[in-house]
Amino acid sequence: MNILGIESSCDDTSVALVKKNHDTFVILAEKTASQITIHKKYGGVVPEIAGREHATAIMPVIEAVMEGQEKPDAIAVTSGPGLITGLVIGIEAAKTLSYLWEIPLIRVNHMDGHVHSVELKTQSGSCRTKVTRLRSHELRRGEETKTQNLKKETDPAAAGQNQEIMFPALCLLVSGGHTELLLSTDHGIYQKLGATRDDAAGECFDKVGKLLGFDYPGGPKISALAKEGNSNAIPFPRPMLKEPNFPKGPHGWDFSFAGLKTAALYWLRDHELSALDMNPDLPAGIWGVRHNDPTRADFCASFEQAIVDVIVEKTCRAALLYQPKTIIMGGGVSANEKIRETLRTELNKILPDVPFLIPEKKYSMDNGAMIAVAGYYQTKKNNFTSWRDSIADPNWEAYSEKY
Ligand code: KG4
Ligand code: ZN
Repeated sequence: MNILGIESSCDDTSVALVKKNHDTFVILAEKTASQITIHKKYGGVVPEIAGREHATAIMPVIEAVMEGQEKPDAIAVTSGPGLITGLVIGIEAAKTLSYLWEIPLIRVNHMDGHVHSVELKTQSGSCRTKVTRLRSHELRRGEETKTQNLKKETDPAAAGQNQEIMFPALCLLVSGGHTELLLSTDHGIYQKLGATRDDAAGECFDKVGKLLGFDYPGGPKISALAKEGNSNAIPFPRPMLKEPNFPKGPHGWDFSFAGLKTAALYWLRDHELSALDMNPDLPAGIWGVRHNDPTRADFCASFEQAIVDVIVEKTCRAALLYQPKTIIMGGGVSANEKIRETLRTELNKILPDVPFLIPEKKYSMDNGAMIAVAGYYQTKKNNFTSWRDSIADPNWEAYSEKY
């Protein structure tokens, strides 16, 4: 069975044709038009601009993926949560193709897609699979797209590991818009354990990145600089780590990162570090000179460590309580090496026999292939939607009963 997956919920127009081949998913073709270079000057994703960019990119990206391919058996499209301006573009394209090709349509929840990203593997160079990552301004200029053979991902986290999801599965979803702990009893069926009450972990990374003068998204930049720093240099708070009644209280599994962001802001203010001093493109500035303060790298390492500690401890405690058969981490922030390594180490200490599944870094970001995989499992349940009834739901929660 071949499924065309379409993702356009945020700042990537991403499409993939995925084949279910025995017990693996083979990516026949995939293409992503990234908008990062456009949004970075605004410090975050601007919904109106994102919508226009998706509208420009969607057909060229679909055409490139489908070039030389046979008609798929079904189309899976992200239908929420996300920015309405992007969702409608993907959905309208999917509806049109579903009608024209007379093939079924599946609405996929974006977070369910992130969970299923763990089942994807970069194809080896010998495979006819090709991948292209292009920017939408390249599309506009009509430049020839750069297509390259895929190299085998060397990420030890995913290499050679059986990535099959077994239930119940404990799912930690950490992205720019979400931080959630869910318990999944079947594909697409989730029970909410906890979620952030304010900022998501990725949002917190990005906003603090902005304070430091980094371009959007700041998460990967903070994490890169953190490698050179001392994570004990600044005692940032660990929000909601010791909630009353934890872990069984009503909000025991919730997260909150807005306070951590404010603590980072106040630390900079109290140390009289202006935006100018924070700009990493400038020479050393006054960091670590005027007050013999921690360096920028120390700041990043300490800030990152606070997020890691909260996420790791809560996930480990949930794992001990719920005794899942697999533990999954997905979403853009799951690319963070410190979180990946710390969580792997700690889970291995407490539940060494339970597989810990994380996506290859490439698939931790938004992509059409994960939507195709999540959609495949919905086809098993005949969970199709008529193209007439397919609508965007920007607030669709993975744990609602909409599938
Ligand atoms: O899942 P995603 O691609 O888009 C959403 O659905 O939000 O996640 C993007 C988020 C951004 O906030 C970005 O800063 C964060 O993932 N991110 C990271 C890292 N790589 C991406 N955060 C921390 N460390 C990283 N290495
Ligand atoms: Zn996402």
